[in-house]
Amino acid sequence: MENKKNTFQLIAKTLFGLEEILAEELTGIGALDVEILKRAVKFRGDNELMYKANYLCRTALRILKPIAGFEVNNEDDLYRNVRKTEWWKYMDVNDTLAIDGVVSNSVFTHSKYVALKTKDAIVDSFRDKFDKRPSVNIANPTLRINTHIYKNQCTVSLDSSGDSLHKRGYRTITDKAPINEVLAAGMILLSGWQKDCNFVDPMCGSGTILIEAVLFANNIPAGYYRKGFGFEKWKDFDADLWNNIKKESLTEQTEFEYKIIGSDSSHKAIGIAKQNKRFARLHKDIEICYNSIENQIPPEGKGILITNPPYGERLKSDDLIQLYKTIGDVLKKKYNGYTAWIISSDLEALKFVGLKPSKKIILFNGPLECRFAKYEIYEGSRKQSAVSSR
Ligand SMILES: C[S@@+](CC[C@H](N)C(=O)[O-])C[C@H]1O[C@@H](n2cnc3c(N)ncnc32)[C@H](O)[C@@H]1O
Repeated sequence: MENKKNTFQLIAKTLFGLEEILAEELTGIGALDVEILKRAVKFRGDNELMYKANYLCRTALRILKPIAGFEVNNEDDLYRNVRKTEWWKYMDVNDTLAIDGVVSNSVFTHSKYVALKTKDAIVDSFRDKFDKRPSVNIANPTLRINTHIYKNQCTVSLDSSGDSLHKRGYRTITDKAPINEVLAAGMILLSGWQKDCNFVDPMCGSGTILIEAVLFANNIPAGYYRKGFGFEKWKDFDADLWNNIKKESLTEQTEFEYKIIGSDSSHKAIGIAKQNKRFARLHKDIEICYNSIENQIPPEGKGILITNPPYGERLKSDDLIQLYKTIGDVLKKKYNGYTAWIISSDLEALKFVGLKPSKKIILFNGPLECRFAKYEIYEGSRKQSAVSSR
């Protein structure tokens, strides 16, 4: 698919609701022909852009490089077409491979079966040519391949990310219900925070939202702490180009002059959050303390609050409603001048915050459909009716 100017088509995968933000991130690093798809963004770029998209984009889950596209109506079509590709251009017979199958609205209903057929075709193509076959390594392959079938259109791509990009590398341990790093980063970008005020998360759990906020605030690449990326094992890997991208990004890091503060009413969560920020050497940038949202005093003046309270899988519903009422009361009493954003899948409980959201965005936390609701807190907020509209 490569053509003039060494650019080729790429696809960045993301979470539902983050497509536009990801398109902006990609445009910002120079992506061409950017087109928004469902949970993905299509664009063109060269190797440099592909490396940068992996390293810098906070809301990308994977960056795929399509190498073949064809129509499939049955398993023979899939096998035959995958086998036609000259796989030895991309990996050696002694290398290992892993296949991710993805199907939607298709005659194929089992993604694992699609992955298996793809693997058979690749392995057989090597066996024909070299009388030997590469082996599979699911956890740590030399080459990860993605076979995506939508209706009867199949796209086979090389996965330049390797492990999903939400695995940033800074989270050593997690507490219950940690939020996905890509979702946390997406929430921060969707909030429109201009890094011009303090940032707080008063129910910070293991600290994911806070760490993503620090990375963003200091312009530290999303992939700064990762051990590696898929493209580093590719045959055409350009180590000099990659080292220059990393070096250049160091010069682009900035200082953040406000505070980033987290608190939580669980000692265990606070211990984990502190360990994560220490591991990421961000201990000077984030203040974390044990406290309930009821007792936590935020810095005065303008600020932004982004939080991910419990959704009720673990709390009984009466307790949950009380917690959301408390959140609303505390916001009205102590967070004057703040913009607060709350993500929750419990739409009933959210109403008990008792403030009228000025914006609601649909996002998914894993399989749970959520609302990411925005509240402007000002003097008059106290007087707002106890129950907000949906
Ligand atoms: C869904 S978890 C947050 C997960 C976090 N975003 C992460 O990535 O790890 C909700 C957190 O709210 C905390 N929490 C519940 N009630 C609280 C309260 N009244 N005050 C402060 N924290 C509270 C829990 O201890 C838990 O850590």
